[in-house]
Amino acid sequence: MTTSFVYKADPERGREWQRLFAEKAPHLDFRLWPDVGDPGAVRYLAMWEPPDNLTERFPNLELAFSIGAGVDQFDLNAIPDHVPLMRMQEPGIATTMQEYVAMAVLSLHRNLIDYIDQQRKAAWQALRVRPASQCRVGILGLGQLGSAVANRLTTLGFACRGWSRTRRHFEGVACFAGNDELTEFLAGSEILICLLPLTDHTRGILDAELFARLPRGASLVNVGRGPHLVAADLLAALDSGQVSAAVLDVFDPEPPPADHPLWHHPRVLMTPHVASMTQPAGAVETVLDNIARHGEGRELIGVVDRQRGY
Ligand code: NAP
Ligand code: GLV
Repeated sequence: MTTSFVYKADPERGREWQRLFAEKAPHLDFRLWPDVGDPGAVRYLAMWEPPDNLTERFPNLELAFSIGAGVDQFDLNAIPDHVPLMRMQEPGIATTMQEYVAMAVLSLHRNLIDYIDQQRKAAWQALRVRPASQCRVGILGLGQLGSAVANRLTTLGFACRGWSRTRRHFEGVACFAGNDELTEFLAGSEILICLLPLTDHTRGILDAELFARLPRGASLVNVGRGPHLVAADLLAALDSGQVSAAVLDVFDPEPPPADHPLWHHPRVLMTPHVASMTQPAGAVETVLDNIARHGEGRELIGVVDRQRGY
């Protein structure tokens, strides 16, 4: 009997998945959405956004995979309880996030926004240079990506601290946990990076109240999700000088409307949700490993906890 794997996301990368599946798992009938073949044969589905009526459409679905690390785009109630949903955990997504955050943190630390502005005005004004070891960087979220970023920034010499829901331990990183330790964590975060999942607990966390707890003149890197940020509060904090600059990769909505004030704010750098990207080679390996684990009754990697929402 045929067993199908359906891929429903960016078609260009999908064709790379298709080639890798042909090489590594020729026994699976790999299908690129919308060409799903016999819906009854579909056992595995990898997607960025789920199709409507998932249960009725694929009655024999056994495993669901998110193409991305985040799963906030899913209505978790629409995925049957007996079908585990896996977050994307593969080396490439972490490596590319390390690159982006290193770029953002170094840009903020070395005053790139000021120098871009100066160049436009043909101005020549050296600003004080401090070594990275004197710059305290705080990372909200110490999971797959936050921990990889802490590791890379530590290598660059930054003094890193991180915050998570449960206590984590990473050598060379000051680890804080839970709401009780958030104020102390924020008080020592001169550059704050958001790498949290979007859940009911984290929506709107980057607001005026949080900005007020940062050292004056701190800067922000948001690579989590757009709805983590209350944009009006950031604009007010930038205007008051409480926050001195921001590098933003995610927005609500995406893209922001053409007249959104963030587009033209002189202290904001924006990118179009490209901080990291799942790499087909690592993704296919991870997905096939989980399919093999499922077949052998072994523990799956990266299963979303529906209670926690990530
Ligand atoms: P992850 O492995 O699930 O890690 C999430 C981290 O956040 C964990 O440390 C978790 O704490 C912490 N956390 C969750 N809820 C919390 C709360 N209420 N209070 C304090 N800490 C909390 O996720 P990941 O793979 O690192 O990905 C993180 C997020 O990055 C994704 O969900 C997505 O939104 C974003 N992302 C963005 C891009 C981009 O291109 N911009 C790319 C990929 C991912 P515990 O350790 O205690 O569980
Ligand atoms: C991208 O934003 C992801 O969640 O992987």
